[in-house]
Amino acid sequence: MTDNITWFSGIQIVPGLFTVENLSFAQNFLMKDDDVILVTYPRSGTHWMIEIVSLILSKGDPTWVQTVNSHTRFLWIEDKDSQKLLKGPDRPRLLATHLPIHLFPKSCFTSRAKIIYIIRNPRDVATSIYHIRKYTPNVKIPKNFEEFLNAFIHGELLYGSWFDHTLGWLTRRNTENFLLMSYEELQKDLRGNMQKLCQFLGNHLSPEQLDSVVQNSSFSVMKDNKMSNSIRLKNPEDETDSNVPLLRKGRCGDWKNHFTVTQSEAFDKIYQEKMSSLDPGLFPWS
Ligand code: A3P
Repeated sequence: MTDNITWFSGIQIVPGLFTVENLSFAQNFLMKDDDVILVTYPRSGTHWMIEIVSLILSKGDPTWVQTVNSHTRFLWIEDKDSQKLLKGPDRPRLLATHLPIHLFPKSCFTSRAKIIYIIRNPRDVATSIYHIRKYTPNVKIPKNFEEFLNAFIHGELLYGSWFDHTLGWLTRRNTENFLLMSYEELQKDLRGNMQKLCQFLGNHLSPEQLDSVVQNSSFSVMKDNKMSNSIRLKNPEDETDSNVPLLRKGRCGDWKNHFTVTQSEAFDKIYQEKMSSLDPGLFPWS
């Protein structure tokens, strides 16, 4: 673990993950009308949605998700490895990013590219990141949950502040070609939300094909699928590779097992202050 992190416009540059040049490539990326781009703050259900969209586009046939890694099915616009592939001619392109809106390619907003933005209860996001951080090379490991929560609240994480990310992206919520989904609603009604997604993407699936999407994107099936439940990260210090598992508990409300009453009250107060400009009805958590 090193502490040689620098900041770039509100997000952290961590050696081995991306560089300022990669961010500049992402910012100037030319979006096409038929691109589909999935945008999330980390640990909000990105890989779940990658699986769902992959299965919808395969009409429920699981072959693609069983044979091709999720990071090849969707290319990350800020990832230096996928940037080589993004220069190729493949269309339509399936893209993903954790970038906040101010670092996102402006070309998207003048194109007809479709954006899917997923939100998740920030308390569960914080809990989930806390558990995955130990696997991320070159990222400072917090001493305890209290120290980590403090960093989360102050946006001292790889992709900056959850509050800024969410507030920024939700300014697009009433625009064409923007679909807002939440981790909590996916948990509550996966099939109903898939129908919404099919409509948004312009795909029609039979009831049997939808059944297969639901089945193959379930937590238990995804957890057993190496193509969906792992990402290889290289530690630039010693060039070792590690296989990081992406699926952990897959539940709503695990934060209650981590936050103390005092931490929960303090978080609520900050949440109310920061999110006061938005209708609380937008968020399926209290
Ligand atoms: P937990 O750590 O709370 O379990 P991301 O893909 O954005 O990194 O999000 C990871 C979170 O989504 C993890 O949350 C992971 O377990 C959860 N997740 C991934 N696939 C899931 C699925 N099929 N059903 C429910 N949760 C899923």
